[in-house]
Amino acid sequence: MKKFRIKTFGCQMNKDDSERIAGLLNGAGYVPTDADNDADVIIFNTCCVRRNADDRLYGQAAALKQLKAGQPDLVIAVGGCLAQMDGEAIQKKLPHVDLVFGTHNVARLPQLIDRAAGEKRSVCEVLAGSESFTSDLPGLRKHAWHAWLPITVGCDNYCTYCIVPYVRGREKSRPMEKLIDNCGSLVKDGVKEITLLGQNVNSYGRDLYGAPRFAELIAKVSAVDGLERVRFTTSHPKDLTADVIDTVAAGGNICPHFHLPLQSGSDRVLERMRRQYTSKNYLRIVEEIRDKVADVAITTDIMVGFPGETEKDFQGTLNVVRAAGFDQAFTFIYSQRPGTVAAKYEDRVTPAAAGERFARLIEEQNSHSLKNNRRLVGNKLPVFVEGRSKKDNYRLAGRTPSNKLVHIKGDDDLIGRTLDVEIREAFSWFLIGEAGDIA
Ligand code: SAH
Ligand code: SF4
Ligand code: F3S
Repeated sequence: MKKFRIKTFGCQMNKDDSERIAGLLNGAGYVPTDADNDADVIIFNTCCVRRNADDRLYGQAAALKQLKAGQPDLVIAVGGCLAQMDGEAIQKKLPHVDLVFGTHNVARLPQLIDRAAGEKRSVCEVLAGSESFTSDLPGLRKHAWHAWLPITVGCDNYCTYCIVPYVRGREKSRPMEKLIDNCGSLVKDGVKEITLLGQNVNSYGRDLYGAPRFAELIAKVSAVDGLERVRFTTSHPKDLTADVIDTVAAGGNICPHFHLPLQSGSDRVLERMRRQYTSKNYLRIVEEIRDKVADVAITTDIMVGFPGETEKDFQGTLNVVRAAGFDQAFTFIYSQRPGTVAAKYEDRVTPAAAGERFARLIEEQNSHSLKNNRRLVGNKLPVFVEGRSKKDNYRLAGRTPSNKLVHIKGDDDLIGRTLDVEIREAFSWFLIGEAGDIA
């Protein structure tokens, strides 16, 4: 039997695509393997949102040159966002790669692999767009209990720094009835938690129905019989409306967590990023969420070193970080992406200044993460056990409804269950708890 291995970079959208790729290959008679030297096909599902994501692909794929030399029948394929952006450049830089395929070509992967195996030269197929959804393909899920559910693909926002609209295409929503049906079959198949995915979930349905219908969608998904947890990401602040906050506030199985990327706390920088909100609007939304949604966590993405960012702009970001009191922030140094509007901005911030702001931002945010996590010590929370901890194999790792990572002692048979856990210790990035009964 032929074996495949997929290496996934980037966001949840790529994780979902990888599960679809696995499903397709499984349907074509392949089985998964965890070892490179045991695989007949190795697939890189790439990201290009920042330069270091490109570099990681080139590093890891180059390292397979020797393996390929000893195993000439091995097929090495590169797909995903970097392939969509840089197809031919990848072929030039990595001549031992047999196949390059774009984000719109996933459905044809089994045929492309056969073609690449048959031909002696490398194959590149990158379509500019597609009418179908990769997420309609059968998936082979990494965890039986969890499913990603893309509700939209692509993005129409064209933030000036961002490559995503160019590599994922225009925003397209999947019809609501289809999504609800899909959730029903996933639950029958053993899924307990569904994460609704979109670059901007709040604009769900605008293209299909003339106006966004995200609040209605989460309410309907949450009513699917047998579903324990509903999550969603990402919420773009410009489109997050009160009806969505109210629906989450109603509770039940909708998890009280918003991932609400801030990017910058300076209105001048936000304007140049084309984010379409101000720091004041942003903080107003944070306040509304905290007022209405019990035990909520708010996480964010923040960037430093965007062209033209001054120390004063950066102070604006620190001020919003202090006022918002985020539970966690994913922090990035601006990375120039060819073809985007901001790539033409000339007032670049020096790497030294960006690095120094980055360190200060992390320090500021860590204190807020720790403060929020410490408040949970002594509480009993329902923790869904996801697996062994990556850091500490003696512990299990699970999540609270608000998506906080909790480490607990326990056996493998607890994986996939919800436990009542008493929180004992808090750190900036995780909690330690003591498991009680199965909830
Ligand atoms: N759709 C989401 C973001 C997807 S990209 C949203 O609008 O919020 C994930 C994160 O990567 C972004 O939130 C941003 O913080 C970061 N990012 C995107 N492009 C970047 C770039 N060119 N340089 C540095 N970080 C970037
Ligand atoms: Fe990129 Fe902006 Fe779209 Fe998010 S909303 S994917 S940051 S263009
Ligand atoms: Fe995601 Fe990276 Fe593509 S963030 S959409 S995998 S460019």
